[in-house]
Amino acid sequence: MSNYHIKHLEEYYQIYRKSIREPENFWEEIAEEHFLWRKKWDKVLSWDFSKPEIKWFEGAELNITENCLDRHLATRANKTAILFEPNNPEEPAEHITYQQLYERVNQMANVLKDQGIQKGDRVCIYVPMIPELAIAILACARIGAIHSVVFAGFSSKAVATRINDSDCKLVITADGSYRGAKTIDLKGIVDEALENCDGVKSVLVVKRIHSEISMKAGRDFWLQPLLDNASKAGQAEIMKAEDPLFILYTSGSTGKPKGMVHTTAGYMVYTAYTFKNVFQYKEDDVYWCTADIGWITGHSYIVYGPLCNGATTVMFEGVPSYPNFGRFWDIIQKHKINQLYTAPTAIRALAKQGTELIEQYDLSSLKVLGSVGEPINEEAWHWYNDNVGKRKSPIIDSWWQTETGGIMITPLPYVTPTKPTYATLPFIGVQPCIMDENGEELKGNQVDGRLCIKFPWPSIARTIWGDHQRYKDTYFSTYKNMYFTGDGALRDEVGYYRITGRVDDVIIVSGHNLGTAPIEDAINEHPAVSESAIVGFPHDIKGNALYGYVTLKESGESRDHTNLRNEINQIITEHIGPIAKLDKIQFTESLPKTRSGKIMRRILRKIAEKDTSNLGDISTLLNPECVQDIIDEAL
Ligand code: PRX
Repeated sequence: MSNYHIKHLEEYYQIYRKSIREPENFWEEIAEEHFLWRKKWDKVLSWDFSKPEIKWFEGAELNITENCLDRHLATRANKTAILFEPNNPEEPAEHITYQQLYERVNQMANVLKDQGIQKGDRVCIYVPMIPELAIAILACARIGAIHSVVFAGFSSKAVATRINDSDCKLVITADGSYRGAKTIDLKGIVDEALENCDGVKSVLVVKRIHSEISMKAGRDFWLQPLLDNASKAGQAEIMKAEDPLFILYTSGSTGKPKGMVHTTAGYMVYTAYTFKNVFQYKEDDVYWCTADIGWITGHSYIVYGPLCNGATTVMFEGVPSYPNFGRFWDIIQKHKINQLYTAPTAIRALAKQGTELIEQYDLSSLKVLGSVGEPINEEAWHWYNDNVGKRKSPIIDSWWQTETGGIMITPLPYVTPTKPTYATLPFIGVQPCIMDENGEELKGNQVDGRLCIKFPWPSIARTIWGDHQRYKDTYFSTYKNMYFTGDGALRDEVGYYRITGRVDDVIIVSGHNLGTAPIEDAINEHPAVSESAIVGFPHDIKGNALYGYVTLKESGESRDHTNLRNEINQIITEHIGPIAKLDKIQFTESLPKTRSGKIMRRILRKIAEKDTSNLGDISTLLNPECVQDIIDEAL
């Protein structure tokens, strides 16, 4: 029997050692005993990080939705699979059972087939946090179409770039979405995006906010009538282990977003196994991850991981502040949530409200508290521990990435002793290491450097859609035979890992990865702007906020800077979305550059952080004189 469920620390170490000594035997046992296969694999793993090429369970055939749905019908048909909590607390929650979910996924799959979608086609899903989002994902997987979910907060330009990059044929969207007291015109955004997307043949529209929208004849269809006419039965397409399951875009430090490609079997095995252990999920637990399914956290730990385990997974449409800052506590009390998985930025925003509201709710159902997306600072950790978990529920500070598909470094609750701000120990099968800047591994404890992974794990992304060379350059070229994460990390005296933050030009704002280059490209499109540089600076709720240094074509004196600031943020909103807006914009005469013309962001970062005591040697700059001016005028 494989140890699918790890219950104490000794067992963790024992299984961990086995997973490193005999990775193939280990993962084979897990895969064999806990999943439904149409055909077993010929080879568990083949890999070569120099190409890079990674294959898990080659030769196997399966459909991930049979693992998420069909196999539960015998024992869990009437169990709630998805518990939908609407934006408006007055609107009743919806309990979708495994039987109902199975039927609704088949209906959606049949509609997609009627629209001509076939195995391997790409489908863009731009839907808010309503059940149809999860159903659309599963429907694509059921027929072997590759889903590309785009977070429903991205702008039309960002949507168009993503649709075109992966040649999506069809878009699923909604008339609009609720976000607290506001509504967002999603269909309008899609219409604008599609002006530049010739490959999209049809658009299926969920009616959610009942707004007046325009429907283009022959292209746009209301989804519900099509679903009503579709069969609730349907065969799952048989997929190969390494067939792509989905594409999910993530920001790079340069260039356009990277369409990370995740494949079927390894992703399924790893997300299911991590879900079970990282949340210590037991059969009747109610699990809630507050992320949006538009991000990897939602893919792996709202949809696939929980459903593969036959869990009850909560989907929340709204925001933590609506109708007031007690909403999270209200949901926990109402649905007796057992595991809460959220982000440090949400914890900080809630902590700012004090404890008066939270004390009015019964949170005693909670057993596990998760954190993800960015380093959790000590203050937020303690607030979470004291006020939400009442010091009874372990905090799971889980480190991972869109690229890793599943959780990589994390405590296991009730197994691993926790330590504030530490992600602690590698998950089973994960071999992290810390490298110095010269490419040498820093062995032993009490070391600080860059985080790499030495050996493949089942859910590693296999490529970047349409650009394998970029995949190689970004992740496998910095260190030989290693996957480079882009994060800094330290290992303390007992071997616990602490993630110290990005070491590249990605900035994490409210848990969202933002590349500096695309934001700068957007700003530089403003006719008055000559060039710009974006850096992060600490922010007490968002973790980091964005600071933009902007030089103008003509000296700034004659321009109205308030207007210009608004226009710059408007351009960013149009190109990327409101999440990338700048908190501070400083107009400068010039930017500090090296003699080869590269902007010295390190200096700009220090100025933004108000830490100018040690800027290092600036005498080698092309224009050292500008540094003092920038410091004098800093915001
Ligand atoms: O810098 C790390 C940070 O988030 C990055 C990955 O972002 P994304 O691909 O959007 O996925 C986020 C959700 C998995 C990482 O490179 N990060 C994520 N979790 C943590 C973290 N930093 C510190 N501690 C964490 N627990």
